[in-house]
Amino acid sequence: MIIATSKTIRLEAKNALLLLSLNGDDVPRVAYFGSKEKEKAFSFHKDSSPTVFSCFGSLNYQNCSFGYIDEKGNFAHRFLLKSVETKKVKISLPRLPSCKGEREVLELTYLDLEDKAEVVQFLSLYEEHDTFVSSFAFRNRSKETLFIDRAFSLQLELPGKGYDVISFHGDWGRERKINSTTLRQGELVLSTTCGISSAHVNPFFLLRKNKRYYAFNLLYSGNHKESVSVSPLGSTRILTGVNDDYFSYSLKPGGIFYTPEAIFTCGDSINEVKTHLNSFVNQHILKRKKSPLVFNTWEAVSTKLEKKNWQELAVMASKIGCDTFVFDDGWYAHREDDKTSLGDFYLNKEKLGGDFDYIRSYLANLNLKLGLWIEPEMANPYSDLARSHPDFLLKTKGIQPLLKRNQYVLDMSNPKVVAYLKKTLSSLIEESGCSYIKWDFNRFVSDVCSGFASGYAFFYEFTLGYYDLISYLSERFPDVYFEGCSSGGARFDLGSLSYVSQIWTSDNTDPYDRLFNQESTGLCYPLSSISNHISESPNQQTGRKFPIKERTNVALFGDFGIEMDLRKAVDEELSYIQKAFAFYAKHRRVILDGKNLLLNSPFAKDLKGEICLLNDEAVCLLASLDNHSGHLCLAGLEEKTTYELKELGSDTPFRASGEELMSKGVFIEGKGKLNTAVYYLKAIPSA
Ligand code: DGJ
Repeated sequence: MIIATSKTIRLEAKNALLLLSLNGDDVPRVAYFGSKEKEKAFSFHKDSSPTVFSCFGSLNYQNCSFGYIDEKGNFAHRFLLKSVETKKVKISLPRLPSCKGEREVLELTYLDLEDKAEVVQFLSLYEEHDTFVSSFAFRNRSKETLFIDRAFSLQLELPGKGYDVISFHGDWGRERKINSTTLRQGELVLSTTCGISSAHVNPFFLLRKNKRYYAFNLLYSGNHKESVSVSPLGSTRILTGVNDDYFSYSLKPGGIFYTPEAIFTCGDSINEVKTHLNSFVNQHILKRKKSPLVFNTWEAVSTKLEKKNWQELAVMASKIGCDTFVFDDGWYAHREDDKTSLGDFYLNKEKLGGDFDYIRSYLANLNLKLGLWIEPEMANPYSDLARSHPDFLLKTKGIQPLLKRNQYVLDMSNPKVVAYLKKTLSSLIEESGCSYIKWDFNRFVSDVCSGFASGYAFFYEFTLGYYDLISYLSERFPDVYFEGCSSGGARFDLGSLSYVSQIWTSDNTDPYDRLFNQESTGLCYPLSSISNHISESPNQQTGRKFPIKERTNVALFGDFGIEMDLRKAVDEELSYIQKAFAFYAKHRRVILDGKNLLLNSPFAKDLKGEICLLNDEAVCLLASLDNHSGHLCLAGLEEKTTYELKELGSDTPFRASGEELMSKGVFIEGKGKLNTAVYYLKAIPSA
């Protein structure tokens, strides 16, 4: 509920409250943000300015959320609040993704004193999920061109300093590793300039102080920046949005610039914050569809998709219980390695032994649907696409563009390129009759100055070109299931998740590493978006060996699939995999739609566990690391209820009360590097 009076505005969610004060100020100030129950006005230094919007030009010298330069070079502007309105609406931002469903919105309109720019701030509330959303629209009211040089999506101020900033950093194969820094002075900046949200630092981050958590994320897949700064007057300002480095946007008279939406929430524990975000993202961002049980060919045979290979694998995939067979990289044109054909997405019939009709019917006989891998925003120099459309590549005239992974980036800021891709990919989907697409993006962006979009507007327009393409295809083909991917999980963000139903988490499929990676990814995003596969042993990335049980159990927590060469598996392994697919097919709703709680601190090392709870059922994963035995206490159960627990792979269930399971816990034995157990729990109705 949003209640606006002349002095205060209350954005009241189920448990959380954002309180703004007006008190004759130019711009509303944050008066409180936290749990409703503990409401107590924040105390800021009298000279501080804890506003929800700022532009350079006032007596406040902290980082500002917005800035523009006019044609005379003036960059100092003063904005005044002009109007306050509340509405109940659905918001759809032009060319950008937005949170779905009806919401209560507070519209704050500011005007600058020169009357050149109007700023509308949308602060929305999703009451049920304790989640707030902030975004801005900037309108040029003048007769000259204005140059926006920063436009953050959210500005928030918290009292005091010394917050732990918990952020998620990494690179290929080690995405979203948790880092925590206590900020007592200065500024901590998380940002990317490589063209996508990237594995370097995820747009999701947390603040923690006195056991209270604040979480922030952005619906954006391009260069982003998160800034947390401590003012000399001792409060902490948070900004998040499009990166203002290498950014400028020229706004013609009457033009409007929209920022992406930023979401934020708070809670008294990590599990509380995770629960708010999971339920919010599941309901208001993700395209939730029944996830396919995928066999993916990548780790099994790489690009070697000759008829014999894929047909033998398809037979095995069908036996273990998969419903979709995905031809990963290598099914098209002359693709034998990563040096050729990227961009030419037409079937290599000779290699695969037939056309799409033949492949589909072969798979259909095995009860499998067809899935295809594509990487639409790229081209190899040795491709028909690069030869016939050299103008589509990011490339400065006369200068050889930079190659990475033997490929160039297409200029997604150019509508002609997007139109070409819409046409060719639509034909591919129609002709192939595929039900699943894995959408990859395997290198960072370079040669950007040659982009169709002028100057520093490039990165923003490049990202919007991606949205134009993927929104078009996902709307035109509602029955096709899209999975995102970027050298593993380098474009794992809420912008992508607005169009794809899940994202490949990491190319590192080592179960020990994955346990950490999936847990940290699970802090940022719901399990329903996290794609995991059983892979082979020794692991292709780390060379470590793990039993089939560990490789399977870890992969079960998220969108489950497999990519090992099943022809090499022994009977015992096949039997466990088969049981796991049957288990997942039966209980996936509990894993994907249930309330997902961590069973111990994400920072504790030796024992790890998580549980998913839905009505009277639960599924939990327990893991002991590096020979460490111990009990893991379950959570979220009814104390007085008796549960029957059945371990995956075992036929002997046992019973225990919720109280016992949550206080004494379940024992897990230390056995080598990693030992895991997956349990299905069901409440026994009392007699
Ligand atoms: C990178 C992805 O992360 C892999 O899963 C695989 O699809 C390769 N690209 C294919 O080139």
